[in-house]
Amino acid sequence: MKGLDSLEGRFALVTGGTSAMGVGIAQALLDKGAGVFLADLDLDKLARTRDELLALCPGADVGFARLDLLEPGCAAAAFAAALAHFPTIDILVNNAGLCRIHDVADLTNEHIDATFGVNVKGLLDMSKLFAAELIAQGKRGNIVNIASNAGKITFSGQLDYCASKAAVINITQSLAKEWAPQRINVNAVCPGAVDTDMLRYCMEDAVARSGGTLTVEDCRETWGAEQLGRLVEPVEIGRVVAFLASDSAVVIRGQSINVDAGTTPY
Ligand SMILES: NC(=O)c1ccc[n+]([C@@H]2O[C@H](COP(=O)([O-])OP(=O)(O)OC[C@H]3O[C@@H](n4cnc5c(N)ncnc54)[C@H](O)[C@@H]3O)[C@@H](O)[C@H]2O)c1
Repeated sequence: MKGLDSLEGRFALVTGGTSAMGVGIAQALLDKGAGVFLADLDLDKLARTRDELLALCPGADVGFARLDLLEPGCAAAAFAAALAHFPTIDILVNNAGLCRIHDVADLTNEHIDATFGVNVKGLLDMSKLFAAELIAQGKRGNIVNIASNAGKITFSGQLDYCASKAAVINITQSLAKEWAPQRINVNAVCPGAVDTDMLRYCMEDAVARSGGTLTVEDCRETWGAEQLGRLVEPVEIGRVVAFLASDSAVVIRGQSINVDAGTTPY
């Protein structure tokens, strides 16, 4: 008999699917038996990521399509490609994200538009496409948004990023309430410091701001290491995403759960 944690027979779409976080999430979903469709900016990288995942999970079903959340019509095309690959999409993981560091004085409306375009409007576009399809089919489903501890606390140089992630946390509550009657469950995870390209970019900024007194290795040792003594690995986020996408989490709704090794207090 299938356990409540099983995702066998279910199909997931993961945006930002070639990022380290996307791969960790895809791996955890595949481990639970789901089929996974990756959507991201670069087709070559998507093909390489698919091969990487098939090497980790032989026999798995992994599809992919190009997705630029800032390009009009691209979200709908990527969603249609996912539906052409799988009979249905039961799980949407809104993982794509943009973080560019600027002091407030240098923050332009173009920067804000790009950050909110990917992190907020893109997430909402994908969620609406997903919900419309499920509602048309009369099926239940799960959305897991990748928010951030940056949506609950602030970081220097990340005003727009932090505000966009706070919006994701609020949107998660709204969508969970709005689509509860249609049995679409919506939750978010709030990672802290996860070992990815985005984190390395933030570390390099911290090193530059320190005027050479810090190194990337110093940041690796101190960031997010307060409780575990190390950074969080992407697949550790993925396992929580897989849980939230499963029937085990049916009574967890509209929540934004810290998955940060205990570094954020609320
Ligand atoms: N790394 C961390 O410590 C950390 C912490 C908290 C939250 N997060 C969140 O996790 C998610 C994944 O981030 P990551 O750390 O892997 O960062 P990353 O920069 O490595 O990956 C971001 C992904 O989003 C995709 N993306 C960016 N712009 C896009 C666009 N216009 N259209 C479609 N896709 C686009 C990128 O191609 C990439 O695959 C993001 O939502 C990020 O905000 C990361």
